Amino acid sequence: MADIKRVGVLGSGLMGSGIAQVAATAGYDTIVRDVTQPILDKAKGSIEKSLAKFVEKGKLPAADSAAALQRLTFTTTTADLQSCDIVVEAVTEDLEVKNVLWKELDGLCGGGTIFASNTSSLTIAAMAAATKRADRFVGLHFFNPVPLMPLVEVVRTVTTSEETFKRSFAFARSLGKEAVAAKDNSGFIVNLLLVPYLLDAIRAVEHGVGSVSDIDKAMQLGCGYPMGPLTLLDFVGLDTTFKIAEIMFAEYKEQKYAPPPLLKRMVLAGMYGKKSGKGFYDYSAAPPVVSNLGL
Ligand code: 3HC
Repeated sequence: MADIKRVGVLGSGLMGSGIAQVAATAGYDTIVRDVTQPILDKAKGSIEKSLAKFVEKGKLPAADSAAALQRLTFTTTTADLQSCDIVVEAVTEDLEVKNVLWKELDGLCGGGTIFASNTSSLTIAAMAAATKRADRFVGLHFFNPVPLMPLVEVVRTVTTSEETFKRSFAFARSLGKEAVAAKDNSGFIVNLLLVPYLLDAIRAVEHGVGSVSDIDKAMQLGCGYPMGPLTLLDFVGLDTTFKIAEIMFAEYKEQKYAPPPLLKRMVLAGMYGKKSGKGFYDYSAAPPVVSNLGL
């Protein structure tokens, strides 16, 4: 992409670090911003680990991995992203938190900079409206684990200009991803269909339809899914799924998006899935064992 050279990434969690990794690997100078240095150090460590895996498997030459790491910088100062040609935001699913960052960067970045949110369920229009560049605002929705999943949803809201959409679509493809166009409805294409399925799997646990491991086994072996739904929930994060469900339920007022009580209780208990060490499975054991949920 001739016109995009420098990429900014807001947030260095699971998604942000993955996005930064694919951008740097694709040849972009990439700067990642998060709130504290220890969080950034953790992100850098996970990127190094992931790149090392690609090298180990012969999917990436060692020199390319080293070059990608050279292109990556990390900062706790939002203003350091001011010279970026595109800023991809992957912070927590909280509109206020996101819009504070967008407003700050709107005043600092040049007119040509595209703002892109990796939100899973919030409305792109609600972020675009907080800036003076609503025509240069899109959604770029990546999938976990970003370095492995080939899809990006490119989301056009009511104010997105044709040029911005085309540049964003081309940017997504330049990362080595397949891109699909999606409308700015909560959940876009994938989560509109995936979230009710994941929530129904939790309801199946609540109703005792099958055990946690049998529900996972059933969907893996019966439908050929790479992971069962409860493993996938642990992998995406129960806290993240809970927030997404709340946002989608508020948007559509449809029961299928309502967070099930068990999900809420697990989140209240800090059982966020793999990232906290415990969700539907307990990851302190190898291999992980089904958690006792007192059901
Ligand atoms: N970087 C590099 N390598 C990685 C990696 C990463 N981040 N994560 C996993 N790998 C490697 C593994 O180490 C493993 O290597 P090995 O073969 O040497 O052991 C290899 O990739 C394959 O992984 P696994 O053996 O664990 O098994 P799989 O074949 O199942 O592949 C998977 C893993 C690609 C994650 C696959 O299980 C899968 O596709 N799962 C479904 C994921 C999914 O649905 N994601 C979307 C979630 S929804 C979302 O993100 C949207 C949001 O808005 C909620």
